[in-house]
Amino acid sequence: MAFQTPRRAAGRAKYAILAVVMLCTLFYVRDSATAAYNSAVIPIQAHLPGGLTSSRPGDKTNVYPHKHPIDTLIGAAEQTFEGLLKKESHDLRSAAAAYRKRRGRHPPPGFDVWYSFAVENKAVMVEDFFDQIYHDLGPFWGVAPSVMRREAWDYEMTINVRNQNASAGSDWFWTQIWLDLTKTIQHMLPDMDLALNSMDEPRIVVPWEEINGYMEKERASRKMADPKEVVSNYQTLTQHPDSDIEMAQKWWEGKQDISHFWDIASRGCHPDSLARKAAHMTNFNDTPSISLAHTLPHTYQGYVSNFTLSADFCHQPDLQGLHGIMIEPLTVSSTKHLFPMFGGSKLPTNNEILLPAPMYWNNDERFSGGPNHGSDWVSKQNKAIWRGVATGGLNKPDNWKGFQRHRFVAMTNSTQVSGAEHWTQIPQNWALPPSEYDIAAQQEGKLGEWIGTWADTGFTDLMCLEQEPHGTCNYTDPYYAVHLGMKMSEQFNRKYLPDIDGNSFSGRYRGFLLSTSLPIKATIFREWHDSRLVPWKHFVPMDNRFMDFWGIMEYFVGYHGEGIKKAGHDREAERIALAGQEWANRVLRKEDMQIYVLRLLLEYARVSDDRRDKMGWVQDLL
Ligand SMILES: *[C@@H]1O[C@H](CO)[C@@H](O)[C@H](O)[C@H]1NC(C)=O
Ligand SMILES: *[C@@H]1O[C@H](CO)[C@@H](O)[C@H](O)[C@H]1NC(C)=O
Ligand SMILES: *[C@@H]1O[C@H](CO)[C@@H](O)[C@H](O)[C@H]1NC(C)=O
Ligand SMILES: *[C@@H]1O[C@H](CO)[C@@H](O)[C@H](O)[C@H]1NC(C)=O
Repeated sequence: MAFQTPRRAAGRAKYAILAVVMLCTLFYVRDSATAAYNSAVIPIQAHLPGGLTSSRPGDKTNVYPHKHPIDTLIGAAEQTFEGLLKKESHDLRSAAAAYRKRRGRHPPPGFDVWYSFAVENKAVMVEDFFDQIYHDLGPFWGVAPSVMRREAWDYEMTINVRNQNASAGSDWFWTQIWLDLTKTIQHMLPDMDLALNSMDEPRIVVPWEEINGYMEKERASRKMADPKEVVSNYQTLTQHPDSDIEMAQKWWEGKQDISHFWDIASRGCHPDSLARKAAHMTNFNDTPSISLAHTLPHTYQGYVSNFTLSADFCHQPDLQGLHGIMIEPLTVSSTKHLFPMFGGSKLPTNNEILLPAPMYWNNDERFSGGPNHGSDWVSKQNKAIWRGVATGGLNKPDNWKGFQRHRFVAMTNSTQVSGAEHWTQIPQNWALPPSEYDIAAQQEGKLGEWIGTWADTGFTDLMCLEQEPHGTCNYTDPYYAVHLGMKMSEQFNRKYLPDIDGNSFSGRYRGFLLSTSLPIKATIFREWHDSRLVPWKHFVPMDNRFMDFWGIMEYFVGYHGEGIKKAGHDREAERIALAGQEWANRVLRKEDMQIYVLRLLLEYARVSDDRRDKMGWVQDLL
């Protein structure tokens, strides 16, 4: 079996955070009660809440010709957020009604206990905040409960709950952190076994066609049983449940079995998607071609208008050469076999079940920034700060150019940008902003100079294939200096905090949101909290190509050249930074993680129960 001990990854990957899971790809909420996996291909025009359609940067059909597209996006985000708040439930009855409306089933047994726990802990009660749970668990309505139980119990790393007591056989630190979280709610939990992903990387990618079959069963099973016939308790489990059940082979695929991880990741995409249809790249040695061709569905005039979609690579075949995990992950151990495994983050096509990542529960200072969340906005430097390790995957002399962190650090390096503007240095791994973005500094031939006034980005370790002392690397040294690290609390003395994926999702994100600075986020990973955050209201979303970054910065800091002058939007930046912080303090607290996990585990216990079709909480209907 291809199980790797978690510690093997700890060397190279120790700063970046990992864990991954995934789900199926095109995840549309088709109507209030339905989260469908089998929706078809992405429409070319993505619709904004205000009825705007996406269009290219500089498109003169802009319905507000004089308005900056970011102003439009911020306005739309306000509306989206207000709409979300209007859905808040204030009593058990209306929470149960909101549940039935959105999920098409009765709430799970114990819903009243969950509700009281959430209220005691001052949760903002919006049913949509739990959407990820239904996305993750949906396919399991197509798997026999006895098989789920057996596979969970049998897995190599588990948390086991019996008689309201959670325990774990493994002392791997992530397991211990998740156990700690589970123990805080164990008195409300039925018996269950949770299989945990012990690795950093995504593991399960079931082909789209199969997931679609599971989801058809899910939809067929979705009904509101007669309250008089509803079963409102959970099964109890023996120590080794269902030991007579046969399990399918998982056929773990390692690096030796595949040419590229993209082959695995993209099989979870719709058969008609570009990811499945476009040619699979094999050469990552050349300067990557960076274009906006595939950004149209998720952008509005060049800026991200649908953040969920921007993380979905199924319509973005060029991302196979623009993200380290797609180019060459550190390790691969994947399966097509659907079984219930929990993890801390995942790609949109992974089928793991998301828990809050361990470092979020642990409040590790390295990721949270500690108790100092930053000074007042006015006293911060007007700069974008990024420090990190050159992770993303296994960078090598012939593949590093597409790695996301390498691209980002190079394109914010004023020396390199000036060199490119003046044709003295050809960019190795990035491209100048397309003219549609209308960047004033670029028009004056001063893009590099201007970037130098606000960008402070750099690696603290180049993560060389052959490790070198002091973090240098003979094949990337010509393009990158090695900087000293900077504590997150120190970074918070700058206004702008770009956040770029490492080997997996970036575990700093929650710390960034909780700070008084403004996170600017690009990612292809999903996390438990995604449906609680509204892009452009609580953080600034960025495309995974980062071609919008200069435009985002121009919007916020402005440009004061000799010829062209553009006003900045410092107020807007401050407003989003503080709204994000305030919201994170309401919906991303440790209590919110407990509330999320309790809801998740009640649902998980129901779908693992032989009587699941008849189970529910219906006291409000009797
Ligand atoms: C994002 O795009 C998906 C797929 O087209 C769509 O279902 C979803 O409603 C969009 N979200 C927003 C906020 O527009
Ligand atoms: C919970 O389970 C663990 C492991 O089996 C055991 O050591 C512990 O005594 C149990 N605690 C309670 C309160 O039953
Ligand atoms: C970099 O160093 C490695 C290991 O010492 C060596 O094999 C390789 O040839 C060097 N590459 C370059 C471009 O100097
Ligand atoms: C910026 O790029 C130049 C090469 O043009 C390189 O020498 C320098 O170390 C880079 N700076 C940083 C901060 O990486």
